[in-house]
Amino acid sequence: MHGEARIEIDDHLDDGGALAHMADDVRRGLTASPKRLPSKYFYDERGSELFERITELPEYYLTRIERGLLERHAPAILRHGGARELVELGAGSATKTRLLLDAGRDEGSLRRYVPLEVSREIAEVSAREIAGHYPDLSVHVVVGDFEGHMDEVPGGDRRLVAFLGSTIGNFPREQAVEFLSEAKLLLRDGGHLLLGADLVKDRSSLEAAYNDSRGITAEFNRNILQVVNHHLEADFDPEKFEHIARYNPELQRIESSLRSTEEQTVRLGDIDLEVRFERDELLHTEVSCKYTRDSLSRLLCDAGYELERWFADDSNSFALALAAPVSEVTKPATGRTLRRDVPQRDPRPRYGSGIRP
Ligand code: AVJ
Repeated sequence: MHGEARIEIDDHLDDGGALAHMADDVRRGLTASPKRLPSKYFYDERGSELFERITELPEYYLTRIERGLLERHAPAILRHGGARELVELGAGSATKTRLLLDAGRDEGSLRRYVPLEVSREIAEVSAREIAGHYPDLSVHVVVGDFEGHMDEVPGGDRRLVAFLGSTIGNFPREQAVEFLSEAKLLLRDGGHLLLGADLVKDRSSLEAAYNDSRGITAEFNRNILQVVNHHLEADFDPEKFEHIARYNPELQRIESSLRSTEEQTVRLGDIDLEVRFERDELLHTEVSCKYTRDSLSRLLCDAGYELERWFADDSNSFALALAAPVSEVTKPATGRTLRRDVPQRDPRPRYGSGIRP
């Protein structure tokens, strides 16, 4: 295959390490009060399939609107920084990537595509497809976890770092700040960050998006128990947990959990743990934070960026935010310089869902 020469794959995943990591996360979460499981464990093969189906549901407007925004604004986004490279964190669905790559090709500046992707299989297949489809593009795949392997991404200037799909919403606010600060590592030689964010809106539309009438989201939520069963030899009975997703207006986020429908004890063979659930006890599985232009611009500011462009749809349901790291802030009164551009490499920030050591 002629595209092969332009594909480079760095694999930083170590399956044993990932399993040990998951064991730690699950133990910590299930012995905490209230109990919780990190949402990143939704995405095994079945979980990813269920998520794909969610994106096609009439109630789940996020993916459709984001795609529409990319169709319309990708050229302006690529032109804004004259991007030479597209770095995609958690390279999601190929259609979104393609919209950015098409625009990059038309603008004529894009040379390289660098997806950071946790699934080896998905990474390899999409690298081949993309290299085949864009003959002038080189593809450098980094197989890894965007929480733990950001520093493995090769350097490059005039980058566009895309973090789409409202995935930023899955971090509670303080962790979102830490994550975005760490992402400045990828922009140390210059460039922009493109964030896809779901916006605050009426409660009923938000809750409908996470409580679809076909029950696919409920299946998706319960699937996390199967993931734990499979990897840690646990005996969760998903039938004994009910899907709950409620909007918390104070924190402006959807909070998803699984409610134990009876008193029960679950055993996790591989980590030698027994966990008791009261009837109606909640197991927290996900937060999906919603933003406004103001709250997102504050979040970016707290992480050391400045919002430069904002693209929202007509109904103000979803937005693409284009931001750049703030290089230096000089206080004229004292002449003191607050350096805000130095990414903190050590110690590694601790995300609630756990990062690799
Ligand atoms: C793709 C992780 C952003 O939080 O909206 C969909 C996942 N959860 N339905 C989201 C999800 C329930 C989704 N993210």
